[in-house]
Amino acid sequence: KKPAGAPDKALARKVTKVGVVGAGLMASQLALLFARRLEVPVVLTDLDQARLDKGVGYVHAEVDKLRAKGRVSADQAGRIKALVTGSLSKDAFADADFVIEAVFEDLDVKRKVLAEVEAVVSDECVLATNTSSLSITAMASGLRRPERVVGFHFFNPVAVMPLLEIVRGDATDDATLATAFSVAKTLKKSSVLVKDAPAFVVNRLLTRFMGEVIAAVDEGTPLEVADHALDGLGLPMTPFTLLQLVGPAVALHVAETMHTAFPDRFGVSANLAALVAAGKPGVYGADLQIDPEAR
Ligand code: CAA
Repeated sequence: KKPAGAPDKALARKVTKVGVVGAGLMASQLALLFARRLEVPVVLTDLDQARLDKGVGYVHAEVDKLRAKGRVSADQAGRIKALVTGSLSKDAFADADFVIEAVFEDLDVKRKVLAEVEAVVSDECVLATNTSSLSITAMASGLRRPERVVGFHFFNPVAVMPLLEIVRGDATDDATLATAFSVAKTLKKSSVLVKDAPAFVVNRLLTRFMGEVIAAVDEGTPLEVADHALDGLGLPMTPFTLLQLVGPAVALHVAETMHTAFPDRFGVSANLAALVAAGKPGVYGADLQIDPEAR
């Protein structure tokens, strides 16, 4: 079924090579997914060789796990590993058709990264961003071709979560959007087109949910009680386990974005901010260890 708002798929461009900016955990998960599902070369870039090695190493280790579980054949495992490479230079994106950035959640950082990528790619190359809350329109402004920028927001763990938010910025054109939907389909994700609003749709809801559980603890409910209060509803994981999975720094960033956009509706937990500021390892409440650098 055609997702609501998706343009005519005939407009979609073919993707024969993918670039991923960043080699952190999110970027590495994306590299694995693209190589596995699109079966095209995927180049990761990052600032230093150690990060690149770690990113490519993650992909290899995950492929080994998939192989051990029988999810991929020996041939497939070898092919996926060979498709994912690292490069210190964005010049490696020169012949890419689809580049996705998964760098630090900061508008200026992302704008700078997209401008650097635009300087090396072809005019047709789609520039996707995995931002979880920042404005696509703001990120694209200042680029030579803002119409090629699209939000492509994945959820953790990327390999397992079917959902993908596709975000249309003010300038995003139909060919870019059609390519995004076509890629999403090949990735076997279930995509939903959302408006370019602070934290889009899903993180607005999650931020409210997580924020209220955190507030309950901040206001004195024992963490163990708040964390397990909803167990009977059958959620796949408890709220504080989810906080750990998302990463406290990312959760804090989304909460701050929401607070800036809607100060009367969204607060920011001072305890969460302190936990993130304290660095690694953090302790939320009495007994929950959180590694703020997990994400
Ligand atoms: N990477 C790869 N695969 C993973 C994984 C990971 N990090 N974590 C779990 N899996 C796989 C397991 O290997 C397993 O695969 P197989 O069936 O092949 O063995 C499968 O997922 C199920 O895992 P488990 O049986 O170990 O555990 P589970 O049934 O509890 O499922 C879960 C784990 C899928 C993560 C589930 O707990 C869940 O759905 N949690 C909610 C996650 C969620 O809400 N994510 C959204 C976060 S918000 C976000 O990311 C947006 C943002 O911008 C901040």
